[in-house]
Amino acid sequence: MYKMEGLSFLSIIRCFIFYLSIELSLATLTINPRRFIGDGEKFVSLSERFELGFFSPGNSKSRYLGIWHKECPGTIVWVANRNNPIHDRHGVLCIGNYGNFILLNRTKDIIWSSDKSSRKIKNPVVHFLETGNLILGESSCLISSKSYLWQSFDYPSDTLLPGKKLGRDLKTNPERYLTSWKSVDDPSSGDFIFKLDIHVLPQISVYKGSMKISRSGPWNGVSFGGIPTISSSILRQDLVHNEDKFYYMFEIDIPVIIKLNQAGEMQCLIWKEKSGGWDIMYTVPFDSCGMYGKCGANGVCSIDKTPICMADVG
Ligand SMILES: *[C@@H]1O[C@H](CO)[C@@H](O)[C@H](O)[C@H]1NC(C)=O
Repeated sequence: MYKMEGLSFLSIIRCFIFYLSIELSLATLTINPRRFIGDGEKFVSLSERFELGFFSPGNSKSRYLGIWHKECPGTIVWVANRNNPIHDRHGVLCIGNYGNFILLNRTKDIIWSSDKSSRKIKNPVVHFLETGNLILGESSCLISSKSYLWQSFDYPSDTLLPGKKLGRDLKTNPERYLTSWKSVDDPSSGDFIFKLDIHVLPQISVYKGSMKISRSGPWNGVSFGGIPTISSSILRQDLVHNEDKFYYMFEIDIPVIIKLNQAGEMQCLIWKEKSGGWDIMYTVPFDSCGMYGKCGANGVCSIDKTPICMADVG
């Protein structure tokens, strides 16, 4: 259900129908760049689990282009113009001639855009995969994960979705890491980042500026130490580290997302169909000992002692 690579036969058919409808709507539009969606319109993913559109977070009146959970619109998983809001409801998302998304405000100023391709793209196509990955590609319905021009999964906000990679392709893309929101009303870049560290042993760390405040690991070949384990029958984790790239990715058979919150905590959330809300499966650091360097270089941290830090007298 949460597979990233490879489209099933059914989704190829759906994709084809979808492709035709995009072609039709693009054909009827004469403006240049081509209009894709405007504020008030929504674009639904193949799984009908995610929606792309304009939103105002919390008590804010500013408008942002983003992707959210269809069943829970308050759960924003990606924001395009997080550092440059639109101040009215006239934002429009367009597709440029060079295969790039362009977000315009009422006066047609560029608020945000994705990178241009090096050549003109005649038939740009948008795919919104069931994973929540928004992909811009060229003409063919069968955009593989290699032939896309741009994908939202390469530009994470504060949420790690199954199938989304943390890390870096050393030849091409910028590093993919999570950046917390400033507040619930403001998705602009906050104080914390959450990234894959590959120095001696791979681990995942939260930084505040250049200061590491927590870490989970190291990677033991199967999972990261210090993170509660989930049955491997439903969870597949992948850590790749070679001269071309390093990344961490997970896929899971239950609806789970990982969020970096404004306090710098990494929260693993599970969707509860019955209550129509998210439950916290775990938070990292899940106790005070998980804070990096909590007891200094030679201290021993014991969560069941007071004070929790003791000098290591060996
Ligand atoms: C559109 O954006 C530009 C550049 O940020 C800004 O100067 C202009 O005032 C904005 N227009 C509206 C209607 O907000």
